[in-house]
Amino acid sequence: TPSGKGRMSPDMRVAAILLAAGTGSRYAATSGSETPKQYVRLAGQPVIRHAAQALLPHVACLQPVGHPPSLSEALQGLTTLSPVAGGETRQASVRAGLEALAALPEEQRPDIVLVHDGARPYVTAKVVRNVVSALTEHPGAIPAVPVADTLKREEGGVISGTVSRDHLFRAQTPQGFRFGLFLDLHREASSLTATDDAKLLEDAGFSVALVQGDEDNIKLTYEDDLVRLERLIGPTLLPRV
Ligand code: CTP
Ligand code: MG
Repeated sequence: TPSGKGRMSPDMRVAAILLAAGTGSRYAATSGSETPKQYVRLAGQPVIRHAAQALLPHVACLQPVGHPPSLSEALQGLTTLSPVAGGETRQASVRAGLEALAALPEEQRPDIVLVHDGARPYVTAKVVRNVVSALTEHPGAIPAVPVADTLKREEGGVISGTVSRDHLFRAQTPQGFRFGLFLDLHREASSLTATDDAKLLEDAGFSVALVQGDEDNIKLTYEDDLVRLERLIGPTLLPRV
């Protein structure tokens, strides 16, 4: 397909899909919170609003995916497209966002799309730029950080082996892709279980660049992550560049 090969021009139109259709079951189980994690308040505003504000300067349009009432309220006053409902799995929610972007008038349709977790509020301009610039050379790019700890495999409560951490990275978001290619791969996908967007390109044999992520670009997953995010985003907010 033409969208998978060759260089993209630097004046690419960038859209972002912001995911908020999950239930946050791991967070709810550890915190007892009734509020889905993407709507938990952090430094006075919902987690997802931080994520939206971080992305907006870099994109021509932002497509939120999630339950429209709570999502619209959390994003009130920000310039985004109207939220669309998500699906049962993360991949299905990404697909819903992609179809909404595909339905835009042709001149508004993006050249590249970023997919970002609504539960990942502390993404920097640098990380977004790293992803977008890699897309001039590659059909996909994801931010990642090297695995620092030694990895152990467990069986029955004891170690059954040591896994080399060489060449191992932890994937973050936003993950970026050429829009036409990514849309085609989603429409052709035979299952809906990918927890990460790059997987569809990997399986189809496209090269996905790994670019520098940020140790602080954490996803709110368990209760402890909120303490760490409060330290980063809380009242003593440090400017990020
Ligand atoms: N997500 C989504 N639609 C789904 C599942 C997840 O839009 N069906 C979104 C979540 O809202 C979140 C992001 O994808 O912003 C990352 O997923 P994850 O951290 O796994 O969130 P949840 O699935 O909500 O949490 P859990 O897996 O603990 O239930
Ligand atoms: Mg999940």
